[in-house]
Amino acid sequence: MKRILLFTLPILIIITIIIAGFGFLQVRFEEERLMDELKRKARAVAESVELSAKHILINKDHKSALKLVESFQKRERAQGCVIYDKDGQIFVITEKIFEWKNINKTDLANILLTKKPKDKLDKYKEYSIYSYILPVLDDESNILGFVEVIYDTSYMFVTLTQLWKRITITLTILLISITVITLLIQRQIFVLPVRRLTDWFKHFQKGEIDKLRPSILEEGEFGKLISEVEQVALSLRVARKVVTDSAKIRLEKEELWTEKKLRDLVQARLGENALFVVSNREPFMHVFDETIGKDVLIRPASGVVTAIDPILRACGGTWIAHGAGNSDKNYVNSKNKLGVPPDDIRCILKRIWLTKEEEDGYYYGFSNEGLWPLCHVTHTRPSFRENDWNIYKEVNRKFAENILDELPAKNPFIFIQDYHFTLLGKMIKEKRPDATIALFWHIPWPNPEVFAICPYQQEILDGMLGCDLIGFHLQSHCNNFLDTANRLIESRVDTEKFSVIRNNIETFIRPFPISVDFRNSDVTKNEISKIEEIRNELNLKDKIIGIGVDRIDYTKGLIEKILAIDKFLDKNLQYKNKFVFIQIAAPSRTHIKRYHDLMAEIDDLVEKKNWKHSNGNWKPIIYMKRHFSPEEIKPYYILADFCIVSSLHDGMNLVAKEYITSKSDLNGTLILSRFAGAARELMDAVQVNPYSIEEFSEAIKYALDLPVEEKRKRMGNMRKIVKENNIYHWAGSIITELTSLRKT
Ligand code: G6P
Repeated sequence: MKRILLFTLPILIIITIIIAGFGFLQVRFEEERLMDELKRKARAVAESVELSAKHILINKDHKSALKLVESFQKRERAQGCVIYDKDGQIFVITEKIFEWKNINKTDLANILLTKKPKDKLDKYKEYSIYSYILPVLDDESNILGFVEVIYDTSYMFVTLTQLWKRITITLTILLISITVITLLIQRQIFVLPVRRLTDWFKHFQKGEIDKLRPSILEEGEFGKLISEVEQVALSLRVARKVVTDSAKIRLEKEELWTEKKLRDLVQARLGENALFVVSNREPFMHVFDETIGKDVLIRPASGVVTAIDPILRACGGTWIAHGAGNSDKNYVNSKNKLGVPPDDIRCILKRIWLTKEEEDGYYYGFSNEGLWPLCHVTHTRPSFRENDWNIYKEVNRKFAENILDELPAKNPFIFIQDYHFTLLGKMIKEKRPDATIALFWHIPWPNPEVFAICPYQQEILDGMLGCDLIGFHLQSHCNNFLDTANRLIESRVDTEKFSVIRNNIETFIRPFPISVDFRNSDVTKNEISKIEEIRNELNLKDKIIGIGVDRIDYTKGLIEKILAIDKFLDKNLQYKNKFVFIQIAAPSRTHIKRYHDLMAEIDDLVEKKNWKHSNGNWKPIIYMKRHFSPEEIKPYYILADFCIVSSLHDGMNLVAKEYITSKSDLNGTLILSRFAGAARELMDAVQVNPYSIEEFSEAIKYALDLPVEEKRKRMGNMRKIVKENNIYHWAGSIITELTSLRKT
């Protein structure tokens, strides 16, 4: 519509200017014509009474004079007539205008001098009038007096107004006709062919091959363009088919899971159907940075983002997530999509907008004050509010509708992430029973007694069991889920197949321990210089350096970590001045009181413990409370002699695996909470119970005192595990499982 306006508006403006110009000239001509006519008439009338006036003035015949001026009232548009004596005194005047006192001294002097008539436009009461004064001369050309005739000119104004009205009506009719004709022509030659092409593409995109007409028949240049576009689209399909076939062949050869192998798997198994991934957190957020006064692109601190990002980079597809950045709306197209990463586009990100109220109820309220503490055994009481639950349902519905809009015609694959979307599987399945849906639960699943606290347990389980596959990190989480389904909802649990059957849908429950993108790369020059920079800036020369990277969350055991470091320093005075622990902490969910209070508690504790142990310039804990990108974090990992992951309860914890990935020189020790899912795989970490500050502090000492060879051996073993069970392995296993459940 905007384009059509852009096209027609200039035409309409030009036509308006031309017609208004012509109208103006026409009115001017008409005005002049009417004035001329009036002048002529006034002169003729004045001259016609001149002779009678002469007699009247010579004979001072007042009676005839009265008769003469009164006869004027009958003339068309004439208001009256005045006869003056030679001194300009009114001799006689038409009664209707008896208050008229027009002739003034200068006019009189002028006429006496020139003996020529004089006219002018003037006002009399509410009338616009025209007056014409004619000197009356005797036979020797001496002035005897004057005759003045007066005409009403308002009829001219009426005539000109009518003329303007006619011009305006003509102009309006013309403009409407031109607009309608332009719209019709545009529709015929532009809008309809484009609409046909758009429909064609929609069917093509969704894979609705049967709905594609063999070709879109258009003539002329536009037709040529359409046929070119059609050819490109068809070649794309052929190319995809070839890629799928060759991917199948390559897949059989490779052993270790790599980005390439995963891409081959996706191409071989999913074929032309791209993958749809749904998560609450988006992989890239556009945020306005007040300190520099412009928008920046950030990678949110989220295990889900860390895990899914390499998969979509490898496979393409569409990632649907909440657009939570305050500048996000400035970077999407009309369909709320953008290619990401923006500098090397690999997949499409579709942003879903939520109102503040929706974010409050669905994200902060139900997801993070309800389900999050419910699933983590950290003794923070979950809050379930009816209003939050209702909004949570609405937001799940909103996501479902957006996803349904995107799905191809046949057998789509949808991969849902986490506790934010427990209802999505069922909502999608109701509309698209042919879809194959997996849900991955990135946090722990509690035992049935704990889950039974949730007032909406039935609906949540029912929603989840709309999926074909539900993945957890650990077998114990799978067992808890099967127990929960068995006890809390009407269903049949098959303990051999590890599945739950409800409403004729069979949902398979499987463990898939998540991981990171393990790359065996040497430290780059850039990283070396960055490390030097950090070393100098933070005064780290000759220090034993520890690192912690966490969101500020009560599940991460940050308080326990600080207390353990404090105790370690109390008991091991030889480490004073020699030991520095860097804690990178990303603020998180800060609108929730528990998180807000935790931030303040940590600030306070760090300050107290640093004050207690500090000596000159040295303090044991460097607390960096801000968001760091993965690229910024990596030099800290490389630099650190040990890393502490102190989660009180955690699904997996990818920081542990990221630290191991960064240690290509094997010089590093991992101190890992035994309550993080990662502890099941990383047996060579120094494992701790973070609740026992005593044990924790001893574990730090133990880790630091390990012989170098032992440290290297442990790190080598852990690297082997992460290398083999990397993120591509995780995604490959889920996709293999998912595609084997494919609906036909
Ligand atoms: C956990 C959840 C993720 C979440 C992340 C960060 O890892 O499993 O779904 O994205 O925490 O939390 P946030 O609320 O900032 O997304």
